[in-house]
Amino acid sequence: MIPPKTIQDILEAARIEEVVGEFVTLRRRGVNLIGLCPFHGEKTPSFNVNPTRNIFKCFGCGKAGDPVTFLREHESMSFEDAIRWLGKKYRIEIEEVARTPEQLAEQQLADSLFILNEFAQKHYTEQLLNTDEGKSVALSYFKKRGLRDDTIQRFGLGYAPDTWDLLIQKAKQKGHSLTLLQKVGLCNAEATRDFFRARVIFTIHNLSGKVAAFAGRTLSSEKSIPKYINSPETAVYVKNKTLYGAFQARNAIRKLDECILVEGYMDVISLSQAGIENVVASSGTSLTDGQLQLIKRNTSNLTILYDGDAAGIKAALRGLDLALEQDLNVRIALLPDGHDPDTFVQEKGADALRDFLQSESKDFILFKTHLLLEETKGDPIKKAALVKDIVGSIAKIPDPIKRSLYQKECSALMHVDENALVQELNKIIGGTLKKQAEKANKGGQAASDLPTDPYAEGFSTPTDVGFPAPPPPKTDKKSIHERDIVRLLIQFGANTLEQGETVASYVLHDLEDALGSFEHPLYAKVALETLRLLQLEQPYTTQAFIQHPDEAIRSLSIDLLTEPWEYSPNWDLRVGYPLQNQPMPELNFEADMRYSVDAFKISKLRKMCEETNPARIREASAENNLEKLTDLLLLQQKIKETLNKLAHDRNIVVFPK
Ligand code: CTP
Ligand code: MN
Repeated sequence: MIPPKTIQDILEAARIEEVVGEFVTLRRRGVNLIGLCPFHGEKTPSFNVNPTRNIFKCFGCGKAGDPVTFLREHESMSFEDAIRWLGKKYRIEIEEVARTPEQLAEQQLADSLFILNEFAQKHYTEQLLNTDEGKSVALSYFKKRGLRDDTIQRFGLGYAPDTWDLLIQKAKQKGHSLTLLQKVGLCNAEATRDFFRARVIFTIHNLSGKVAAFAGRTLSSEKSIPKYINSPETAVYVKNKTLYGAFQARNAIRKLDECILVEGYMDVISLSQAGIENVVASSGTSLTDGQLQLIKRNTSNLTILYDGDAAGIKAALRGLDLALEQDLNVRIALLPDGHDPDTFVQEKGADALRDFLQSESKDFILFKTHLLLEETKGDPIKKAALVKDIVGSIAKIPDPIKRSLYQKECSALMHVDENALVQELNKIIGGTLKKQAEKANKGGQAASDLPTDPYAEGFSTPTDVGFPAPPPPKTDKKSIHERDIVRLLIQFGANTLEQGETVASYVLHDLEDALGSFEHPLYAKVALETLRLLQLEQPYTTQAFIQHPDEAIRSLSIDLLTEPWEYSPNWDLRVGYPLQNQPMPELNFEADMRYSVDAFKISKLRKMCEETNPARIREASAENNLEKLTDLLLLQQKIKETLNKLAHDRNIVVFPK
């Protein structure tokens, strides 16, 4: 293991232009360097290297990151390998610290469980292909279901014959530990009976292709026998972080920027064999957060392809709000009665299935609204519950623009007044923000207190390697001031003002009251994270954001730092500060900061003045509550005055009338 201090030293020594320069020819352009992007084909260079911030970014394909990210993406290195590579380049000696005995034992256990699984997988395949029973019972079954030899190989299909303890006997012969065989779930506690007997075997791989577990399907139609049984959870098999087929599908998902989710093992295998390779299965349960994160690391587009029968759909709907939270675009397609994806593709072919997906898949929220609406059939109580349910789903969407589109469509679909919907929505979102704030205040791990691998999060085994970051969501005009505050916090947060205070602390104190009113969830998150960093009294650096353990914060930071930015036409007039160094905003950070803070305040005040407060005034007057009305009118007056003063100072026209 590499000690964290050494990792820190290496990260600090690594120069982005030198690292990238080993693989890409770079030319100087101003303070930056440019070259042809190594991640996508291009003839004119849009690949930018910024030595000041020590990051790269391609404006063509969006790839961006620090030296470690570059090595991971370009050379497919693990985090640790990238660190070792950099250590060598910068001649920083890596003094390995021994793992703790527990860590060592854990790793050894995982290694031996993988070895046993691998052994079992070979055994099952051998039984399938090279024994009489296997050939006549199982191989013929797979063939009857249309599977080719290469498919059987690729998915590690097999057969566990109808015997009591064949695997146990084999394991003994080979000198494998029966205790471990039992630990990995392949036999009973006494090691007298194999777990899988008289079943065809489906191998479940982890993301790096190691054998994590098995599923066995009975070929008997006897009702009392469960159709499928699965390996239990073990140190190498965490069910809610595993998707069946993910290893085989991974590249296709990235290339096509879409993941198709089906229910069953056979569905994955059939589709993949037919050439639709971007397919995974949740294996009959509703999706978990861990599984969704796995998808999200590959693509933002999820298409659910299920049978037409209602049981599966309800289960699926429950899992899908989680998908919205991850900002996945979810579509859903239901096959005609009597078909599952496997039978459909076997009967009609891949092109027919692609056409079907193209024409029949529906946006998830609209689908859900339709489906539930049918059930309410004019029952007002059911309908109220439906509205709550749908609003709950919409509230999960982080992107405000998307949210407002759904508000419109769903209120029309349900014949509910849009304003009523919005009110309900705001209640929910307000509650969520508060919870986020509380969670952030409780404080987790410090961002600058880097874990050994700040990039690894939630993989099924320690050996798995992450997917590249998906592109960050686009900003809308509404959140532009929030975005600017966040940029300030990340870019100049550590800078010191004349009075000795840092920019971060100044901004956060100045905006204290407004922090809870950040509308964009990601910006709100960064603001709260800044607050947390300050409270921790850790060194506050831009680097802490670029290397933040939270993927979304990481890519936002890079985006903000590399955004080609311009001053608005009257910038110098507004800040009352001549701009001698236009291309170097760093030199003007103080004026920049004061301007951004004021612009932010103006936008918030304006919202109060034009929307929030008038609504409350209308409410008070409808209630005939004179006292409240007077207070509110006075408040409105105050807001207007403050707003006008700020706007005047900044030379911004707030009220055109
Ligand atoms: N499943 C399970 N245990 C069961 C039944 C189902 O774990 N007793 C899971 C399996 O992952 C299965 C999926 O739910 O693949 C879908 O179930 P089903 O549609 O019944 O099975 P298929 O995979 O379609 O199997 P087949 O086509 O061979 O009938
Ligand atoms: Mn099936």
